Amino acid sequence: MTRSPRLRRAGHVALGLALTLVVAGCASNAPQDSLKPAGKYSREIDHLFKPVFLVAVAVFILVQGLVLFSVLKFRRKPDDDGTEFPDQIHGSTKLEIGWTILPALVLGAVAVFTIPVLFDLNSHPKNSMNVTVYAQKYWWGYQYNPQSNYGIDQKITTANELHIPAKTNIYLTLESKDVIHSFWAPRLNGKHDVVPGRKHTWLLEADHPGVYSGQCAEFCGTSHANMRLKVVVHDQAGWAKWVATMETPDTKPTSGLAAEGYALFQQKGCSGCHQIDGEYQETKATNPPAPNLTKLFTRDCFAGCIYDLNDRNEVEAWLRNPQRKAGSLMVIGQLSESEIDRLYAYLQTLR
Ligand code: CUA
Repeated sequence: MTRSPRLRRAGHVALGLALTLVVAGCASNAPQDSLKPAGKYSREIDHLFKPVFLVAVAVFILVQGLVLFSVLKFRRKPDDDGTEFPDQIHGSTKLEIGWTILPALVLGAVAVFTIPVLFDLNSHPKNSMNVTVYAQKYWWGYQYNPQSNYGIDQKITTANELHIPAKTNIYLTLESKDVIHSFWAPRLNGKHDVVPGRKHTWLLEADHPGVYSGQCAEFCGTSHANMRLKVVVHDQAGWAKWVATMETPDTKPTSGLAAEGYALFQQKGCSGCHQIDGEYQETKATNPPAPNLTKLFTRDCFAGCIYDLNDRNEVEAWLRNPQRKAGSLMVIGQLSESEIDRLYAYLQTLR
């Protein structure tokens, strides 16, 4: 009935291995896999992490091996009546010096490789493109000031999706409008806290065009988990096209459903929080901060990148109840289905 301790131990080891495999399986195809770096900064971290991890594994095996060895070798034997004790010896100076110096050397070696990476990640590379990132509950805003090097002639403001050119150093200035958040695009760089009242800087760089997921990595409230983001990386032509699109002002609809929708957009108070650039500059949205909707339909996601903007049902569900996302600050009141249709028709003109 009772299994031998050896068998039970083997069972525990097997269970541990199985759990490890399950956890490793979760990571297949994961869009936020920091072990699959896609840019030079994330690669620097990866090149540091892997050897340090191997050193840690070696230390773990050595220490745990010695613990296991001692436990097995010196455990109480069946014929031991508990009256005899091993020879009692005092500490060995040689050993104590040894196990103080050895870890110090290991940590010293790790530091030699770590410190240059820390400096590099906090540098300000020449010719980098500047973007200011605004964090607030629970979405990300981005602002690009004019930079002739990157073809940006006018201020561009957008939300949720950060657009950048490939193979370019992006120098982010991180600012928070409320609490502490953390900007994290795992395949492009590590995390960086975004602290109210301070300006932190952080770098991004992506090797190839593509879409890279990210999210807030510091608990900031009920919808912390719904504060996601996308980094959309363009090739040269794609970047020029995006900038040109963003710099072509949205025009106000003058007739039809869309014009009625624009009237509603003002009546229902939407324009009090959502800024739209271009022709709309006279509407100065103030508070609370809400995503800038300029060229809205050039994006794929909304509300902290948790809903698909290309799915009309999602947009309508949002207009029916913006509280479907916990902690959402948007208040719009009850809308009729025909009002929702008109608002949707208006939003569709922002592209
Ligand atoms: Cu913002 Cu968590």
